[in-house]
Amino acid sequence: MSTDRTIPGGVTTDHVVSTFVEYFEERGHRRITGSTLLPPQGDSVLFTTSGMHPLTPYLEGRPHPLGDRLVNVQRCLRTTDLDEVGDPTHLTVFEMLGTWSLGDYEGPQSLRWGYELLTEGLGLDPRMMHATVFGGDDRTGPDTPSQEVWQELGVPVEPTVEDNWWSNGPTGPCGPDSEIFLWTGDTPPQSTPTLDDRWVEIWNHVTMRYRKLDDGSLVPLPQRNVDTGMGLERLVSRLQGKSSVFECDVFTPWRLTVPSLWPLDEPSLRLVCDHLRSAVVVIGDGVSPSNTGRGYVLRRLVRRLLTVLWRDDTTRSIGDLPLDLVRHTLDHFRQDVEGEGVRVILLEEEQRFRGLLERGRRVLAQPRFRGTLDEESLHYLHDTHGLPRDLVLSLRSQ
Ligand code: SER
Repeated sequence: MSTDRTIPGGVTTDHVVSTFVEYFEERGHRRITGSTLLPPQGDSVLFTTSGMHPLTPYLEGRPHPLGDRLVNVQRCLRTTDLDEVGDPTHLTVFEMLGTWSLGDYEGPQSLRWGYELLTEGLGLDPRMMHATVFGGDDRTGPDTPSQEVWQELGVPVEPTVEDNWWSNGPTGPCGPDSEIFLWTGDTPPQSTPTLDDRWVEIWNHVTMRYRKLDDGSLVPLPQRNVDTGMGLERLVSRLQGKSSVFECDVFTPWRLTVPSLWPLDEPSLRLVCDHLRSAVVVIGDGVSPSNTGRGYVLRRLVRRLLTVLWRDDTTRSIGDLPLDLVRHTLDHFRQDVEGEGVRVILLEEEQRFRGLLERGRRVLAQPRFRGTLDEESLHYLHDTHGLPRDLVLSLRSQ
């Protein structure tokens, strides 16, 4: 299968990435290589959820070897979005286009460049844009400079409080942000991002100037940074005129292959493609299924997708998946691992889950487990038979 990401007659993911990177390179940014999904040691999150994770020490003041203006493409994974997967805008693993000013230029400059790139560089209609800014709270004043930039550019702007404060997990670098939204409705744009979810957030510009401590207090960072992140698949699906991220070109090989393997309704197809693709990338970054931490996230992804696949036909297997599709995904994410090894891990996990379900059904058929299961029974099933609570409850609801 070709790894070429072009689509006939349209703007491509590759084109968007190179336009973005070149635009910022022309403005003095150096490209850094994106890291894996595994954040550096000491980071407070399980997976890289944003391009800034690998840069935390530099946001906190250490000089970066490539200077104080950086640009990159970073793969990210957000478990907070798992239940949203299937809607038009959320993916478990996605790519983020990022830029950083490490104590160099400030937020308003970043917003001006962002606007210019989106409109002149990528051809988006400015009338389809809305911005939000931090409106201020009892600790920090309103982000007036950002608000003034948007007013000057003629982009409608809405101040909010919680939605415009970005932090890296419970502790670490944080600050006020200004977000750029694109209108995705069929009617002319109306209302504001907090009131109408047809405004979809694509680009977040954070003025990262505080560190949040364990006790929740904020201390100033040694320098004022700008950290921006734009959802690549969201942007590309808008540029390609698609109504969901699942229809943009990176998903084309999945949409061409999966429906012929397993007939699925659209929500199930989206979930299966998202979770399988994410599982491949997570394994590609060296994670194995387990009962804790990252391995547990992987296990949940595989079990959720198998639960959907087996709803209509329990003979369906990840083994049906062509190796080319696994390789295509690994290549797309620049992961230098053998596709076959990834498929073996997925298949072993499938067999484990199948075995667990069979054992669960057998055990639950025993007379002592008829009727409502109390906490003691749930503990016993877990400790003695290795049957997780969620699994038992889902078997009982079938
Ligand atoms: N850290 C910000 C975000 O994740 C900008 O990159 O949205």
